[in-house]
Amino acid sequence: MQHCFILGTRPEIIKLSPLIRIAQSRGLDFCIIHTNQHYTASMDEVFFRELELPAPNVNLHIGSGDHSTQTGKMLIAIGDELARLKPDVVYVEGDTNTVLAGALAAAKQPGILVAHVEAGLRSYDRSMPEELNRIVTDHISDLLFAPTAVQEKILLEEHISRDKVFVTGNSIVDAVQQHLAIAKDADDTLRRYHLHAHQYALLTLHRPANVDDPAILTTMLENLQRVAQDVPMLFPVHPRTRKAIDALDMPPMKGITMIEPIGYLDMLQLMQQARLILTDSGGIQEEACILKVPCITLRENTERPETVDVGASVLVGSDAKKLDDAVANFSTITPAWDNPFGDGHSAERMIDIATSHVA
Ligand code: UD1
Ligand code: UDP
Repeated sequence: MQHCFILGTRPEIIKLSPLIRIAQSRGLDFCIIHTNQHYTASMDEVFFRELELPAPNVNLHIGSGDHSTQTGKMLIAIGDELARLKPDVVYVEGDTNTVLAGALAAAKQPGILVAHVEAGLRSYDRSMPEELNRIVTDHISDLLFAPTAVQEKILLEEHISRDKVFVTGNSIVDAVQQHLAIAKDADDTLRRYHLHAHQYALLTLHRPANVDDPAILTTMLENLQRVAQDVPMLFPVHPRTRKAIDALDMPPMKGITMIEPIGYLDMLQLMQQARLILTDSGGIQEEACILKVPCITLRENTERPETVDVGASVLVGSDAKKLDDAVANFSTITPAWDNPFGDGHSAERMIDIATSHVA
């Protein structure tokens, strides 16, 4: 039996890494197809190296492009590789164009089971490119690995057959636990970035809804700079956002230090030691919750409602008052919520379930 992991972006490499490790440690026959949707070294190579993952068996070098072109090129190239490799099960993780193309290419070939890791998430916002990818992928998958009972309920309400849906936990918990164990000394990381524990905030931004419109991005950065007068911010900048900020021609930011995207081991240390995290990232909302660091989610909605329900995160969108209130409220609480995303053994469960469905 052959397991095939299809990935293409930073979060997919991180969240599939625990499954790839199980496949390695059990001596399973497996392969990795990389679409190279992300290709800059700081978005791609650094994760394979730091997380000690095997090099992809196939790199499709698709790169960037508009949605149709990027997804279409991936669909053709992945289809060709699957016809050649003939795996028994294909794993895709999350909601990117790589996930949609990978799931669709696999579903169209006879004899391949499609396993969707992180199934059933919904923001109910169809203007978000990821929402369509989630819906389509869930409806063409054979095995749907729902992180929590919230997503199981959503999938059943969408009339997906109960025997396809498994609540496994989210592999981000496995990834956080495994990589914190190998992350370097936190003091060393803080020194390199000239920071002191719990005296800074970590910021990330990359959603098209926040960064693609110059007016929205400008307002958001102005609001964030105001908050940064009290708590300095470190801002590893996603390449999409870097392009958008460069095009704004803004004066240098006050209180916000922009740096290149960073590796996962530094990222974990910097998240864990932060006083506050401000983000529109899906994965970072979860990680903040797992690491018990308050998170201000710079979005109007979220497909991760658990983070809000347990009190780990507040949705503020681009509203200045909501942002200020959230900063003030979080400065008075001691994080004490439980992690809703599982016990860190989700990868084993997923591989076991997939194996039992092929055997
Ligand atoms: C993609 C995913 C998004 C995910 C994010 C993770 C889709 C539709 N979007 O968004 O769901 O949250 O990855 O980070 O699949 N670029 C580089 N180098 C790279 C990658 C991108 O310079 O390695 C630049 C290019 O200018 C590119 C732009 O960033 O056009 C956007 O990249 P793209 O992969 O289309 O979308 P992301 O915003 O990264
Ligand atoms: N991340 C990282 N370095 C960075 C920014 C993010 O290692 O400079 C990690 C982060 O900890 C999380 C994942 O990348 O595990 C999230 O990726 P991203 O925000 O790009 O995508 P999303 O989760 O929103 O799809």
